[in-house]
Amino acid sequence: MEGDAGTWTFVCHLGDLEIGRTRGFDLAGKGQDQVFVVRADSGLHAYVNSCPHWPTSPLPWRKDEYLDATRSVIVCHGHGARFRISDGLCFAGPCVGARLTALPVKLDGERICIWVTGSLLKQPDS
Ligand code: FES
Repeated sequence: MEGDAGTWTFVCHLGDLEIGRTRGFDLAGKGQDQVFVVRADSGLHAYVNSCPHWPTSPLPWRKDEYLDATRSVIVCHGHGARFRISDGLCFAGPCVGARLTALPVKLDGERICIWVTGSLLKQPDS
């Protein structure tokens, strides 16, 4: 990640995110979550909260609700695009073949940290 002008950013503790759950984070303090983290059986996955079908459109239908009822698929509330948790690939809906923008994620002890760049935090309307 050299040259990304980014930084590892703490978002929450592992104990604050159960397996099968997601959390969004408003790292820019703009009133809308820019990123979200999924804790799945396969581990932690982080993505930008922007649907590839309609870039900058947020995915969840309400705060922290990024998964479908089975809690095995990421869903966009806009038009129902469905994405694999493991790599963000859209496999159903209006943007099949597109991907969510993945972010590096790591555990620092019990702390979940994601790699955030300055460009990610810029808001189009700010
Ligand atoms: S905005 Fe996400 S499916 Fe259309």
